[in-house]
Amino acid sequence: MRKPFVAGNWKMNKTAAEAATLVGAMLPELDKIDAVEIVLCPPATAVPAVSGLVKGSKVGVGTQNLHWEESGAFTGELSPAMVAEFCGYVIIGHSERRAYFAETDETVNKKVKAALAHGLTPIMCVGETLEENEAGRTNEVVVGQVKADMAGLSAEEAAKVVVAYEPIWAIGTGKAASGDLANKVIFETIRVPLKEMFGSAAAEAVRVLYGGSVKGSNAAEFFGQAEIDGALVGGASLKAEDFLAIVKAAA
Ligand code: G3H
Repeated sequence: MRKPFVAGNWKMNKTAAEAATLVGAMLPELDKIDAVEIVLCPPATAVPAVSGLVKGSKVGVGTQNLHWEESGAFTGELSPAMVAEFCGYVIIGHSERRAYFAETDETVNKKVKAALAHGLTPIMCVGETLEENEAGRTNEVVVGQVKADMAGLSAEEAAKVVVAYEPIWAIGTGKAASGDLANKVIFETIRVPLKEMFGSAAAEAVRVLYGGSVKGSNAAEFFGQAEIDGALVGGASLKAEDFLAIVKAAA
C-alpha cells in the first residue's frame, strides 16, 4: 500500500514573508491530515522560514532544484548538503528546468543520485511536450526519461524516488489530462519500465504523482486511479484553501 503524496511546487512565487503567511493559513489544517505525505516546495530564499514554521508538524519541505556536486565554484547553485540542512525533499528535472535551464537526462540522473546519497527524497519529473504528444511519441519520450533519469540506481534507491508525470501541455494551462489517460500513461511509461529495471517490489513501492492543472475540483479524478498516488501541484498550491482541498481529496 503506497502512502498518498501531495507536493506544492511554488515555483518562483512568494517572498519569505509571503511564504510565512501562506504556511500560517494552512498548516493547522494540513497537520491534521495523517493519511497523506505533504510537502511544500517554496523558492530557496523562503525555505529556511518555511522549514522553521513546519518543524514539529507532519508537513515536509523541499527545494525546487539542487546541484550534484558537494561544494565548489558553482555560482547560484545549492549543494545536496545545503538542501538537506533544511529539507527532506527536492524536485528534480521539472520541465521548466529542462526547457529554460538546459537540464538534461544526464544532469537529472546525477541530481537524483546526489539527493539519495544525502537522504533526500527526489521528486523526479518526467513528461512530454504538446508536439511530442501530438506526434504519438508520449510513450517513447517518457520511457526514455525514466530509464535515463534512474539509470544506475539500486532497487532499494529506486523505491525511494517519487516520480511526477507532468505532461507539459497540461502545466499551467488549465487543460489537465483526464484521470484515465494519465493512469494509462503512468502504467505504460513509468510502472512497467520500473519493473523491468528494478523488479516488481521496487516498482510497486514507487509513488507516482500526476501534475498539470490539478485543482480541488479535479483532484479526486486523479486520486481515484490505481496508478496515481498523488499530485505535484503548481498554481493551486499558492492558495491555502485550494491546496487544502487537493490534500483532503488524497486522504
Ligand atoms: O510542478 C507543478 C506543475 O508544473 C504543475 O503546475 O499545477 O500550475 O499546472 P500547475
